[in-house]
Amino acid sequence: MDQSSMPGKPPSESAIEMNEWVLPQHANALGATFGGVLMSWVDLGAAMAAQRHARRTVVTASMDAVDFIAPIRVGQMVNLKCCVHYVGRTSLDVGVRVEAEDPLTGARAHALSASLTFVALGPDNRPTVIAPLLPETPEEQRLFDAAKKRRAAKEVTRSEADAS
Ligand SMILES: CC(C)(COP(=O)(O)OP(=O)(O)OC[C@H]1O[C@@H](n2cnc3c(N)ncnc32)[C@H](O)[C@@H]1OP(=O)(O)O)[C@@H](O)C(=O)NCCC(=O)NCCS
Repeated sequence: MDQSSMPGKPPSESAIEMNEWVLPQHANALGATFGGVLMSWVDLGAAMAAQRHARRTVVTASMDAVDFIAPIRVGQMVNLKCCVHYVGRTSLDVGVRVEAEDPLTGARAHALSASLTFVALGPDNRPTVIAPLLPETPEEQRLFDAAKKRRAAKEVTRSEADAS
């Protein structure tokens, strides 16, 4: 199917908000959440946003950036906001912002930012074309343009790596 004949969708239609609670089994000896546990929550939330946009099975192609900004302690709540920033032909870039919340005071702190690429698969398990993204707000347009630039830079790096 031709992508230009598919109706576009705004980022708000697929945005996901997910909450977790850090228990002792999620933490290291310092009482902070393991990076791998956080990355699995990030992957899950981002995959739900990607799948909501694509309405196709999606697979994680790349975790492009993960920045651990502040530790999240046992007992804190974790809030993940996952939003599709950019859509190519068969792939999507999803941005994730993670905040740690003190359950007693409600105080929140930015703990992690990440961006991931997913690829939508058809029934043959091959990449399949998906609906375009229609940014609606100036901020959504800014995120779309920034992700498009990062994507172009990454494609250069990938084709250089393939050639070597
Ligand atoms: C991701 C995967 C489907 C891509 O298959 P492929 O045949 O290489 O895909 P193509 O070269 O046709 O590219 C398809 C799209 O994916 C993008 N893509 C492929 N590999 C990518 C990567 N490593 N990083 C970012 N984007 C990537 C391409 O840019 C293209 O995007 P576009 O259609 O929007 O322009 C394949 O590599 C795969 O199955 N990987 C394993 C996925 C997995 O097991 N994930 C963990 C569990 S979910």
